[in-house]
Amino acid sequence: MGKLTVEEVEKLFPQLADVKDRALAKAACEIWVEAFENSSWEDINDPQFAIRAPGVALIKHTENVTANAVYCAENAVKKYGYKVDMDVLILSAVLHDVCKMEENDMGEGGPGTAVKSPVGKLYQHGFLSGYYTQKYNFPKEITSIVVAHSGQSKVIPRSIEGLILYYADMMDADVHFVTAGTTLCLEVD
Ligand SMILES: [Fe+2]
Repeated sequence: MGKLTVEEVEKLFPQLADVKDRALAKAACEIWVEAFENSSWEDINDPQFAIRAPGVALIKHTENVTANAVYCAENAVKKYGYKVDMDVLILSAVLHDVCKMEENDMGEGGPGTAVKSPVGKLYQHGFLSGYYTQKYNFPKEITSIVVAHSGQSKVIPRSIEGLILYYADMMDADVHFVTAGTTLCLEVD
């Protein structure tokens, strides 16, 4: 079982510094700490974003999806005057894939050879992230965005924040999948 601290998580996801609700920003870090401790990974750099994109770290995907989502949201505000709750967006983005640490285990070949864990085979992707946001008393809208971010979800996002996260996530995922020469989200989700 690896060790991670709140301070380390804050550095991994610098967008958390812009969250106005400081208690929720800290809770988001605590969720990463707990989920990492509940996983089989020893080094936070090793969990993969996806089994079929072996070279992409989950922490990097999460940070980039958050950065892209913030950029899209800022444009929606600036250019169309839409209202976006940046706390909801940033917290949902930072937490959307935290479940992946428990959904995957390192394969026998070491880093880059992740395999589905027993829990990952049992639960729909996103469920565990939603479990943590509920456990840490996050607003229901954040839990719903986190759960609905997956193409496997029967519930689709119905808010600007949820849709921006959904597409920022799919975009980052398919950029990696097309580079890896593997199946795209567009084809399977
Ligand atoms: Fe993702």
